[in-house]
Amino acid sequence: MPRPGSGIEERFAQMMLARLETFLPVVMLTNLVAVAVSQPTGVGLNNHILAVNTVTMALMVWGYVALRRGKVPSKGAHLLAAGVWCLSPVNTFTSFWATGSETLMFPLLIELVALAFLLDTRTALAASALTLGIGIVTFDHIGLDSIHFMSMLCGWFIGLTMQVALRKSWLRAELHHHDLQRALETLRIELAERKRAEADREQLRGQFVHAQRMEAVGTLSAGLAHDMNNILGSIMAFADVLHGEASDATTREDLDRIRQEAERGAALTRGLLAFSRRGAYRKRALLLTEVLDTITPLLERTLGKHITLERIDGAPVSLHGDQAQLGQAVVNLCLNGAQAMAGHGTLTIETALVQLAEGQVPGAPAGAYARISVADTGGGMDDTTRKRMFEPFFTTKPVGKGTGLGLAMVYGAVESHGGAVEVETALGRGTTIRLYFPAITAAPQPGTRAESPKRPMQGLVLIVDDEPTLRTGTARMVERMGLTAVTANDGAEALAVFQQRRNEVALVLLDMVMPHMDGPECFHELRRVAPVPILLISGYSDHASTQELLAAGADGFLEKPYSSEQLGVEVDRILGRRRPAAAAG
Ligand SMILES: Nc1ncnc2c1ncn2[C@@H]1O[C@H](COP(=O)(O)OP(=O)(O)OP(=O)(O)O)[C@@H](O)[C@H]1O
Ligand SMILES: [Mg+2]
Repeated sequence: MPRPGSGIEERFAQMMLARLETFLPVVMLTNLVAVAVSQPTGVGLNNHILAVNTVTMALMVWGYVALRRGKVPSKGAHLLAAGVWCLSPVNTFTSFWATGSETLMFPLLIELVALAFLLDTRTALAASALTLGIGIVTFDHIGLDSIHFMSMLCGWFIGLTMQVALRKSWLRAELHHHDLQRALETLRIELAERKRAEADREQLRGQFVHAQRMEAVGTLSAGLAHDMNNILGSIMAFADVLHGEASDATTREDLDRIRQEAERGAALTRGLLAFSRRGAYRKRALLLTEVLDTITPLLERTLGKHITLERIDGAPVSLHGDQAQLGQAVVNLCLNGAQAMAGHGTLTIETALVQLAEGQVPGAPAGAYARISVADTGGGMDDTTRKRMFEPFFTTKPVGKGTGLGLAMVYGAVESHGGAVEVETALGRGTTIRLYFPAITAAPQPGTRAESPKRPMQGLVLIVDDEPTLRTGTARMVERMGLTAVTANDGAEALAVFQQRRNEVALVLLDMVMPHMDGPECFHELRRVAPVPILLISGYSDHASTQELLAAGADGFLEKPYSSEQLGVEVDRILGRRRPAAAAG
């Protein structure tokens, strides 16, 4: 059997104290009964016996009171127990001494066997050896014969053997108890770990389902935005053309209104496209602070007097990004913050270079990140809002106050930059949204200049688009710029037209998504024939192929729907400078 550790010794001492508390009253009661039955059983009482019984009783009462008051330290438990055990046989020996009655052998044997009640063998041995000595002297004094000696020794031996055996079984039980406790503790830890793993798994599943739902909504909204852009593009084109031709003011005003409504629609589809991750075309290496520099003056003007705008810039950090798109994302966050504060409070925009460990921010592998945080002191979000905030068209604002596209756009911007987003919010305690973008070490590149000086233009523009109304509308815009337009329904037709009139064509406006031969293929075919300037046009295109064509020398990119001014600026820029001029990317 293994040696008992100090923990077990302490438990034994505590057990001994508890036993004493139970048995002391029993011993006291037995003593009283013994005194009471002395005379009837033929053991005469005298003053000596009464005095010793009184002292014994007093000692036991004192011990019991000390026990009840918790005054006995666990260290003294075994000693006290041995002392209490001694009192009864010593008492009996006194009676032997005084009366010489052999009847006293019965209580003496019971008292000796009660040695088994002690838990510590060494104190049991010491106490019983002392008692036995007194017994031998007493027996010798009153001249009892050897059978009494033998009986006393047997009683003592049985008591001691029982003590040792019982101690062993207690020890074994205690060790089992110990092992069981340890096993239970291990089980508890394992259960807690399993629960945590399950919670992690549940969280991952939730994230996966959320990502899938966002992906599905993204695909849906991109398709919708594509069709809407073509329709809005046509409306804007014809409204523009008619505006130029209308002679009376009322008609021009009406046409302006049509144009404004189409612009509003275009803003919505832009939001949708940004969400569906097909909007970041103009990426370059830029400083994170550049993103803020352009929007801070705008924010200061629009947020209102009672909102304090704080800007804290950390270590400079560069990222590969689309400045306009990121700026718009931060503006959207700030507008939300301002709305959540109902016009009063502090909005803090912070930039920092941070090192993330694996798993620190969901969706961001370990590495260096450019972090931009927007914190407000507004009302915060409840759990339901928090879970759905990035879904397009999810809004808690009244009809006409919010479209629910602000954060969808932020989400799209983060996705298209390979970043991650972290939201910290609690009802009544404000909201902090942190955007993380992979940091780069490349030096920032300057932004592109938007305009070039106007000059009269001439030449033939080949417009390639599968949408007939938009094609005609764009042709009318081009003609109003003083240029000649020729149109093609798809890539194949465009190639045929170009081969016939290659010397006349000054510019090709090329839609990216078309049946038969799409934009990218047509681009390469046209360039194989002649190095003609090509302006890419799309309302829906995966940004990778647009980037590729811009890198391959396309002259620019225009997002559908566009106004005649926007088209004019691009056409002017390209024809004004001629080749080569990769405007973006
Ligand atoms: N900083 C914020 N504090 C509290 N709630 C917010 C915060 N930002 C977003 N929300 C909640 O998330 C919802 C969605 O935000 P989102 O910006 O996408 O749409 P919106 O602000 O309602 O409308 P929009 O931005 O299109 O005008 C909001 O309606 C609002 O309930
Ligand atoms: Mg918003």
